[in-house]
Amino acid sequence: MVFIPDKRLHLGAEAEVWSGSWMGRSAVSKQRRSRQWRHPNLDKRLGTRRMVSEAKILMRLHNAGITVPQVWDLDIPGGRLIIQRMPGIPLIEILNNAETSEQLVIKALRSTGAAIRILHRQAITHGDLSSNNILIDEQGNAVLIDFGLAVIDYEVERFGIDLHVIDEILSASHPNHHGAIDLVLSAYLEEEKSLGTAPEQSGGLVPTAEEVLERFENVRSRVRYHG
Ligand SMILES: Nc1ncnc2c1ncn2[C@@H]1O[C@H](COP(=O)(O)OP(=O)(O)OP(=O)(O)O)[C@@H](O)[C@H]1O
Ligand SMILES: [Mg+2]
Repeated sequence: MVFIPDKRLHLGAEAEVWSGSWMGRSAVSKQRRSRQWRHPNLDKRLGTRRMVSEAKILMRLHNAGITVPQVWDLDIPGGRLIIQRMPGIPLIEILNNAETSEQLVIKALRSTGAAIRILHRQAITHGDLSSNNILIDEQGNAVLIDFGLAVIDYEVERFGIDLHVIDEILSASHPNHHGAIDLVLSAYLEEEKSLGTAPEQSGGLVPTAEEVLERFENVRSRVRYHG
């Protein structure tokens, strides 16, 4: 199927990302880039594994009724994934734009916390929760993207680390937004309160929001102690 590129969105170390159209629908193409310094065979294996893993996780989440880009095409030998283009702009731009209203910032951060808990309730950790990988629509609703490092897990540690990553990013890259992490964390907890206990997944029970928060505090103090 042909993807008609329109604009390059991102040139990263791992992937070149374009917006365009696929079967008349607004789409995004993630083309894996080869890394010169890695052995070509190893490079191919690692890159392919991540791409296939991202596609699988996106499908799993979509089937669970969670808003994530739909997977439309996967070309393994060609190293390309075609997914639905989601509306919105990355959280990093919302936070860096001085013109963004306080109200939208608050809504975006709260929606981010809720989206992370909704993901975690599926026994999936994101693995790369930077403010580039969270899209915010005009109403301030958050959608998580970039699942290349996401994994299915039941141990609390990776869940705590997800929150630690977003905490580090908010304090290091967006220090002017005081208390940003508290909005994310309180919404993370409240989402669980409003949804009730997370249903059992195929591998068992996922850590509760309280357990994850406790682990997050623990990760944070370990990192502070060891520098
Ligand atoms: N489904 C999508 N809808 C809209 N925009 C998207 C979508 N997927 C990606 N983008 C945009 O492209 C950017 C890069 O995509 P993504 O984060 O998936 O690639 P990446 O894995 O980070 O690449 P690298 O690891 O090489 O940096 C995102 O930050 C976002 O701005
Ligand atoms: Mg990314």
